[in-house]
Amino acid sequence: MKEWEVLLAPYKQAVDELKIKLRGIREQYQFSPKHTPIEFVTGRVKPVSSILQKAKRKNIGLDDLEEKMQDLAGVRIMCQFVGDIDTVAELIKMRKDFQIVEERDYIKHKKESGYRSYHMVLRYPVQTIDGEKPVLVELQIRTLAMNFWATIEHSLQYKYAGKIPGDIEERLHRAAEAAFRLDEEMSQIRGEVRDAQKIISSKRDPIRKPPNSYLNGKDT
Ligand code: GTP
Ligand code: MG
Repeated sequence: MKEWEVLLAPYKQAVDELKIKLRGIREQYQFSPKHTPIEFVTGRVKPVSSILQKAKRKNIGLDDLEEKMQDLAGVRIMCQFVGDIDTVAELIKMRKDFQIVEERDYIKHKKESGYRSYHMVLRYPVQTIDGEKPVLVELQIRTLAMNFWATIEHSLQYKYAGKIPGDIEERLHRAAEAAFRLDEEMSQIRGEVRDAQKIISSKRDPIRKPPNSYLNGKDT
């Protein structure tokens, strides 16, 4: 177990640093008149039991883990609107503190399951006592609706050990369609939501730190 902790320590460092940096972007937006494209950020290091399962499933040798398992470190950015995903992706591409090694657009090309998200794999340099160590981090950017669907689908995959019964799969496909339509509808009324947020924030005490706007809540 100790060895796993040592192997995963730089990944934990990378996740922690990226969460702080991405939440920092969100805070900068909250002090600006622009719409905040980041709703909340989460991150995790893959649990050892999942690493072992995935290594077995994908035939990855434990010596190749660091190159071949791109999601040992995972960070997720949730957005209100589909258009925010591009804004966030552009901000990520501008940065000089890591490299982008891969991009997968499961929004333009949704997966068979109905899954949608924008994925990026980063090579993030962690500063260790033995010098710089670049580690891979999987970044998933998605709307709240995409996240809702993916979270439910993931729980069902888990419950049915990857073999979801046909009727439930059918429902999930319909739910994915509904989530897609919700995102479309929300984008269309986006202008109106934005106006509402401006009115709410202009009524707040300007001396206080800008609180989370009324649609922004959770920050885990
Ligand atoms: P794994 O799916 O992780 O085995 O790796 P992969 O090489 O196939 O990469 P892919 O881009 O397909 O998936 C990477 C990650 O995206 C997964 O670990 C999940 O977090 C998420 N993901 C991909 N497909 C689905 C899906 O159908 N449902 C859900 N809930 N999440 C998905
Ligand atoms: Mg996959």
